[in-house]
Amino acid sequence: MEDIRIGIIGHGFMGHEHEKMLTKMEGIKLLGFSDIDPKQLEDVQEGLKRYSSNEELINDPEVQVVLIAANNNQHHDLVIQAARAGKDIICEKPVAMSLEELDDMVRVTEECGVKFTVHHQRRFDPDFRTAKEVFDQGTLGDVYTIKSSLYGFNGNMHDWHVYVAEGGGMLYDWGVHLLDQMLWMMPGAKIKSLYADIRNVINFEVDDYFKILMRFDNNITAEVELGTYYLTDKMHDKWFERHWFLGGNKGSAYVDGFEPEGKIVRTAGLLQNVSGQRTMTAAGPTRSFGPPPEGKILTEELPKVNTCHENYFENYIRAYHGEEDFLVKIPETRRVLALMDAVRESGRTGKSIEFE
Ligand SMILES: NC(=O)c1ccc[n+]([C@@H]2O[C@H](COP(=O)([O-])OP(=O)(O)OC[C@H]3O[C@@H](n4cnc5c(N)ncnc54)[C@H](O)[C@@H]3O)[C@@H](O)[C@H]2O)c1
Repeated sequence: MEDIRIGIIGHGFMGHEHEKMLTKMEGIKLLGFSDIDPKQLEDVQEGLKRYSSNEELINDPEVQVVLIAANNNQHHDLVIQAARAGKDIICEKPVAMSLEELDDMVRVTEECGVKFTVHHQRRFDPDFRTAKEVFDQGTLGDVYTIKSSLYGFNGNMHDWHVYVAEGGGMLYDWGVHLLDQMLWMMPGAKIKSLYADIRNVINFEVDDYFKILMRFDNNITAEVELGTYYLTDKMHDKWFERHWFLGGNKGSAYVDGFEPEGKIVRTAGLLQNVSGQRTMTAAGPTRSFGPPPEGKILTEELPKVNTCHENYFENYIRAYHGEEDFLVKIPETRRVLALMDAVRESGRTGKSIEFE
């Protein structure tokens, strides 16, 4: 099978990440980069092209697929330009700044008959896949809550990420991944209502904290929380905290860290209406929150998953050659954008929103 020949627009943070991965990947030939800022092309690897403009890259007959890794507010115009030149497209997340932009992109890519998908490689994050595997196994019984949280410790948002007009803010940046994961965890379930608290804790324009509660029609309430300003003096070598918690009536599971550690926890006999034992704790005497009777708590290992971000492009290659579907489908990315609109409305009004 012939290599898929890709040209990338944008040689910033993500452009460099793609360069590292795609130059080593079988089945893909990375041709080169364009960037609006020529300085950004100075360290493009030897052997790759440095296009003098996006137009030159897009119109290079060798380029089959244009990967768009420029700022969020550039995605719409670049997707349209590449589609009109007949190129297939992978666009970075968030695919667009609004539903209107995305609908326009879909109309043009369909008219031009080109393949169009979005780089949501975090569907392969091992922590997420572990939590999903626990959920899919069904061994927690009726799950009532799923919590996904991410905290950063130094508060720093930088460059264009601090400007609304450029698509900055954490909802666009990480929120789009965290919401995409949650929706993909239970693809058949619809959100009945949601409530969101969104804040600019230390940034003037853009959000750097959000908590989103979503009540699904499968009776699960999902919570997604992110903050970039969780100062701590105990970070050691950890610059992030990542946590999942799944609670069901037959067990709980916690999954911590991007290289996930955690357990499934069950009880040997249901601790339901057992006689309350008076226990003294730091919080004072308690009967409901005291330690369980000896031997009642059982733990199991989390399932092992074997996933990594390369898997996104492995799927892309197979799908490009017609062997399977693209994992990331445009209607799924549209649903996440619609959800983010509802989240913003709830954040603005302080009211819960009916959705779907
Ligand atoms: N999938 C992921 O995990 C992930 C991670 C980080 C960033 N991203 C996405 O990648 C995109 C780029 O983010 P980044 O962090 O690399 O930003 P960045 O600022 O580091 O890099 C963006 C690059 O695009 C260039 N650029 C801007 N407008 C352009 C245009 N019209 N034509 C050509 N080049 C242009 C800039 O000069 C810069 O070099 C964003 O959409 C972001 O959301 C995705």
